[in-house]
Amino acid sequence: MKFFLDTANIAEIEEGVSWGCVDGITTNPTLISKELVGNTNFKTLVKRILDIVDGPLSLEVTSTSSDAMVEEAKRLKKLGDNVVVKIPTTVEGLKALKVLKARNIDTNATLVFSVNQAIMVAKAGATYASPFVGRLDDISEDGMSLIEDIRDVYDNYNIETKIIVASVRHPIHVRDAALIGADIATMPFEVFKKLINHPKTDEGLKRFLADWQKIDKSKLVF
Ligand code: G3P
Repeated sequence: MKFFLDTANIAEIEEGVSWGCVDGITTNPTLISKELVGNTNFKTLVKRILDIVDGPLSLEVTSTSSDAMVEEAKRLKKLGDNVVVKIPTTVEGLKALKVLKARNIDTNATLVFSVNQAIMVAKAGATYASPFVGRLDDISEDGMSLIEDIRDVYDNYNIETKIIVASVRHPIHVRDAALIGADIATMPFEVFKKLINHPKTDEGLKRFLADWQKIDKSKLVF
């Protein structure tokens, strides 16, 4: 299973990559808007992320017509080979996915909320599909059951589109995504950090170190 960070924050990306567990980055217009402060512009931010991460970086189009999405996608792709273009799950988005597939530009269909949408974007040629589990949970639907269903359907028909579990809000989403066999979970750095923590690890390490301190130091020469 791959872990992506769902952030455009350089400090978070640098820290996550240093842990050896980050396989890629996803962003959206909201996440990018938070980082365009001071002298930082979109191009310098994207280049910086591409320098840090050896993996796919999803950048989202903000056009709404298919022709404009395709033009925007071509411009985004010029920023780096690892750029994956995020396309909204709309009729215009389907048309853009089809054209971009023919041009060998990797795509990530975003804002997927149903199995039928996941089938449609896969048929149109999406490299990745991003169902939003947290936003379904927010409206009292079961986000993870959508992931189970999409996994089943994609497996039924040998669909190669990769499932990115998005809108991840807590570590249980990540664990469940892994158990279901989702290809990728993309998560905020705050969730990523929590994945390594366990109170019994901290307690155990504390005890080991305390016991080590009690040993006669002359016995520890090596
Ligand atoms: O990037 C898409 C998705 O992960 C956004 O998550 O928490 O804003 O629903 P959230």
